[in-house]
Amino acid sequence: MTAVRIDILTLFPAHMNEMLHESILGRAAKKGILELNCVQIRDFTTNRQKQVDDYPYGGGWGCVMMAQPLKDCVDSVLETPKSPRTRVIYMSPQGAVFSQDKARELSECYDHLVLVCGHYEGVDERFIEECVDEELSIGDYVLTGGELAAMTVADAVSRLVPGVLSDPACYTGESHWDGLLEYPQYTRPEVWEGRAVPEVLRGGNQAEIDRWRRKKMLERTMDKRPDLLERQKGALSEADALLLAEIEKDRSRMALTEPLAHRPATAADLGDILRIFTGARAFLKRQRVDQWQGDYPNEAVFSADIQRGECHVMTYGGRTAGFFVLSDRPEPAYDALTDGKWRYHALPCCVLHRCAIDGAFGGTGFSDALIAAAEDCARALGAAIMRVDTHRKNKPMQRLLQRHGYAYRGNVAVYAGSGDHDTRRKAFEKALGEAPGGQRT
Ligand code: ADE
Repeated sequence: MTAVRIDILTLFPAHMNEMLHESILGRAAKKGILELNCVQIRDFTTNRQKQVDDYPYGGGWGCVMMAQPLKDCVDSVLETPKSPRTRVIYMSPQGAVFSQDKARELSECYDHLVLVCGHYEGVDERFIEECVDEELSIGDYVLTGGELAAMTVADAVSRLVPGVLSDPACYTGESHWDGLLEYPQYTRPEVWEGRAVPEVLRGGNQAEIDRWRRKKMLERTMDKRPDLLERQKGALSEADALLLAEIEKDRSRMALTEPLAHRPATAADLGDILRIFTGARAFLKRQRVDQWQGDYPNEAVFSADIQRGECHVMTYGGRTAGFFVLSDRPEPAYDALTDGKWRYHALPCCVLHRCAIDGAFGGTGFSDALIAAAEDCARALGAAIMRVDTHRKNKPMQRLLQRHGYAYRGNVAVYAGSGDHDTRRKAFEKALGEAPGGQRT
């Protein structure tokens, strides 16, 4: 049984038929899911010249389509009595602007649409009053006729009819379905003109992909159609509201426009180092990482680091924005590595200890610069190897290390302060080789 019938009443049925019976709609019509008919209005004239229009009363430019052939044409496609699931729509720039919501309403509430295409300077108003249920426009501009508008409505409604597309998922995730624009799509190749497909889409973690896509939908709607997002604001889910807050936070992050620098810390830097350390400790707590949550490290530890010349500060525009502690003294805890082995034994080695950046610089690439700076200092001390450990739950640090080529070697236990704190750490190692763009020192 045909699910939906659409009749388009027009002066150009041949052209319209050709377009309608192509592609997806044509296939659906062949399968009997849709019935698409184009009817010639001129066939319903009663004058010998088959004239459909006449001069306007009151004068003025152009001709107006007569009510009689239009009504007879409509009547020819209506069932008697007219079903409540039939809708006669006149395509007109004066109608309500067509939307995805409207397409959905028409596909769900009706199974017979009659789309009337006007021409010339419009149609006799009495036809609209007598026969039309609703006027629809496809936008605030005037076309030479209603045909393109009728095609638009027929297409948008038809693809929502069950069975026309292979799966409802084809349209439920796309632009406008739930008032948002669709997320960006990518296909092969993985890299095109130097642009890679976002990593998350290649990772295979569906939950992460779904989250990324939803965030992109919100972000794109915010950028391209803020009016749509504004309309949705009261109706957004809690998860969407959190994603929006995340987008706003991402955007408020600082863009680095000046070079980053680093230098050995002095006693005068201690205040800044403690401030950054306190922020990082709070961040770890929020992430439920039991690292730096006890009384270690503390001011005395940082003072000793500075005195030994092992503490360095990172600066940006004169502002202290990060620190790291780098030592060429062996770390005793690393001798008791479990669940793996160090790879390099006899080579000179540095250990990267405490490091952190000011939270205001998160997402700016500052932590990458910190690792690069620590490696430069290690090379300057003659090290060929860098070792570092981090809490097993400190994923941001683990990701940073992996991004910089550090390999996980096994587990160590470190001093974590007095009290019952997690002492387990993952240990990483990297052969420093040459500095990028520089020489091995
Ligand atoms: N006929 C002429 N202009 C139109 C429009 N913008 N929408 C629908 N039908 C039309």
